[in-house]
Amino acid sequence: MSQQHIPARSTRSEAAVATVAPRRDWWREAVIYQVYPRSFADSNGDGMGDLEGIRSRLPYLRDLGVDAVWLSPFYASPQADAGYDVSDYRAVDPMFGTLLDADALIRDAHELGLRVIVDIVPNHSSDQHEWFRRAVAEGPGSPLRERYHFRPGRGKNGELPPNDWESIFGGPAWTRITEPDGTPGEWYLHLFAPEQPDFNWEHPAVGDEFRSILRFWLDMGVDGFRIDVAHGLVKAEGLPDLGTRDQVKLLGNDVMPFFDQDGVHEIYRQWRRILDEYPGERIFVAEAWTPTVERTANYVRPDELHQAFNFQYLSTYWDAGELREVIDRTLRAMRPVGAPATWVLSNHDVTRHATRFANPPGAGTQIRTAGDRETGLRRARAATLLMLALPGSAYIYQGEELGLPDVVDLPDEVRQDPAYFRGDGQDGYRDGCRVPIPWTREGSSYGFGDGGSWLPQPEGWGELSVEAQQGVPGSTLEMYRTALSVRRAHPDLGAGDSVEWLRAPEGVLAFRRGDFVCVANTTGESVTVPAHGRILLASGEVTEADGETKVPGDTTVWWTTG
Ligand code: NOJ
Repeated sequence: MSQQHIPARSTRSEAAVATVAPRRDWWREAVIYQVYPRSFADSNGDGMGDLEGIRSRLPYLRDLGVDAVWLSPFYASPQADAGYDVSDYRAVDPMFGTLLDADALIRDAHELGLRVIVDIVPNHSSDQHEWFRRAVAEGPGSPLRERYHFRPGRGKNGELPPNDWESIFGGPAWTRITEPDGTPGEWYLHLFAPEQPDFNWEHPAVGDEFRSILRFWLDMGVDGFRIDVAHGLVKAEGLPDLGTRDQVKLLGNDVMPFFDQDGVHEIYRQWRRILDEYPGERIFVAEAWTPTVERTANYVRPDELHQAFNFQYLSTYWDAGELREVIDRTLRAMRPVGAPATWVLSNHDVTRHATRFANPPGAGTQIRTAGDRETGLRRARAATLLMLALPGSAYIYQGEELGLPDVVDLPDEVRQDPAYFRGDGQDGYRDGCRVPIPWTREGSSYGFGDGGSWLPQPEGWGELSVEAQQGVPGSTLEMYRTALSVRRAHPDLGAGDSVEWLRAPEGVLAFRRGDFVCVANTTGESVTVPAHGRILLASGEVTEADGETKVPGDTTVWWTTG
């Protein structure tokens, strides 16, 4: 399998030196910033973000006050699914740079006190991965076909897919190949796009290969992995029919024969043992969609992964009752396994929360209407302060610190999301949250790079830029900075595994954590609540008089009673 040259100095023993000085359990309350490499910063003016661009902006992330950076995939890939189709897990795609650039990025991040988490994509490879290409080229009976799910078709001439599973991106989850002799041949399974064949994790070579890939990146000095489709690796024995042709949702909670099978846990126990051999408290975070937070907790048992994304939280609307329920349920589910809760509002697969909350409840996580932008931003800011006040670890998606909305009106001809091109796909509008972020007020791509951007940025993007917001009191960027510095300075924020709810008016959440109090008003109307000491931060303008605080609609306030 092709490999790029690895810098000789990236040896395993040196990785220990390169890793940030261990702070025990740093990850339990870490704030982790997701960088989407295509859209963060472009160093060479080709319109596509790259590793060198990210490296040049690391001081910005240090100043923002995050603990770690999670990089979405930058590996060799034909980009059928924006890099989640990997053709070589040990190489950097030339459009993002080289392994030397990855090495420099990891080293610089560590020098700045930032940890680096990379994505690993073990459910499927690219159809251009050497194993898959050979599996097809070698014809029926090739041993490499056993590393994927190849099956004969049903029907008289094998013309029907082997079972009734639908791809998450739309259409059947099976594609029929043409054999080397030109005849219609076997079918292969792909839960996502046809260019993303699923690995067969029953085959020992697959596990061996991924353990080796983990070591490769651990030797490079990374501090952890975000596991893509962590719940999908093991399929139910015999690949049984679903019995329905309902479209499966990427962000769904349904019980499926290809998701959340108990067998996945043995894989993660083995992975954990590898990680623990390395110094510096490195971590795994699972992208695991399960029917309940209780099932999610299984992924973070003490001998498995460290964290799992809390998608139930991400899918909850700006509503006090629903939020309280999901917060309580999450904390309750994580307590028995001793894992920290995690909180997330946005990522590269869902409509940004400033736009979700600008739309009415029930609109879901794939929204194509701008809604009321002002309300959306006010709620997004308030939601962020609520999230950052909860015990556990929080994830921030690039650009949310600028209050960016989703770009809902991208012309169809620029769209790249593979689901958009697959008929009944439900997740075809993810490009809207992937538009390159604005750094400066002016310039061809608002400081993203010197040569335009791979998705068009909307007019007025510059007014939301880092340049336009930094140093401006009350800007969303300064609110995030202050929140993160308060969080660092205040021992009760982030730590622990519970909140003490306080009495509050309808539609308002109020809780105490040590000498810290948070009140989130999810209604559109002002409420008056008792003052709880000194105000540390608020997402909107609050007024205080006679021991009471007037909290405007859609606003969150932090106090310290100490
Ligand atoms: C989840 C990733 O976040 C998403 O972007 C990708 O399309 C699918 N997994 C398939 O890898």
